[in-house]
Amino acid sequence: MAGEGAGGLLRHPPGPQAAAWRKMTADDLSDLCRLAGRIHPGLPEDAAVFEERLSLFPAGCFVLSAEGGLAGYAIAHPIRFPEPPKLNTLLGAIARDADAFYLHDVAVAPEHRGRRHAETVVARLIDAAADFPRICLVSVYGTAPFWRRFGFADASGNVAPHALSGYGPDARFMVRLTPD
Ligand SMILES: CC(C)(COP(=O)(O)OP(=O)(O)OC[C@H]1O[C@@H](n2cnc3c(N)ncnc32)[C@H](O)[C@@H]1OP(=O)(O)O)[C@@H](O)C(=O)NCCC(=O)NCCS
Repeated sequence: MAGEGAGGLLRHPPGPQAAAWRKMTADDLSDLCRLAGRIHPGLPEDAAVFEERLSLFPAGCFVLSAEGGLAGYAIAHPIRFPEPPKLNTLLGAIARDADAFYLHDVAVAPEHRGRRHAETVVARLIDAAADFPRICLVSVYGTAPFWRRFGFADASGNVAPHALSGYGPDARFMVRLTPD
């Protein structure tokens, strides 16, 4: 436990402020873009992409709110399977015949990681996907082991080879069936 040592200094520096997930609003978008640029410098997306996802499917958009500002975000929406959207591309609309729930991104600021924030929001997104037979995503940065914890399996063989281009060399398409 942290406490005051000699000279009034904290023996253990305090960790980041508490943070909690809440629904995203349009007011979050500028902070979100800044955070996305910090977390994904090699996979940039335009502000218009985040704006569009929020306007098309707000029920799939969450932010991790901390005292110092945004500490993470999660974005998901329905798609037609197996057609992951290209990176940094507008959808135009949610397909009427969408048959999968797509996790566009789950991202937590480095200083807030390792506190189960991602786990919490992934559970929430899995609940939100209950009406769809499957959930899918593009794993980047070697995060496949993280996604396997939630029951996702590599299904990269199900997508056209060019579908993942732009997501980096280690991109994997992953799928989890929604239990009945
Ligand atoms: C992946 C990410 C969202 C995890 O966020 P987080 O809040 O730190 O995750 P949690 O605290 O809920 O992690 C739970 C567990 O997953 C593990 N984990 C986290 N990142 C992992 C990774 N890249 N590969 C394998 N395991 C990982 C943690 O070690 C932890 O395991 P433990 O129970 O053994 O301690 C975060 O590292 C991140 O934002 N990374 C950059 C963006 C990114 O890769 N997003 C996913 C895009 S597909």
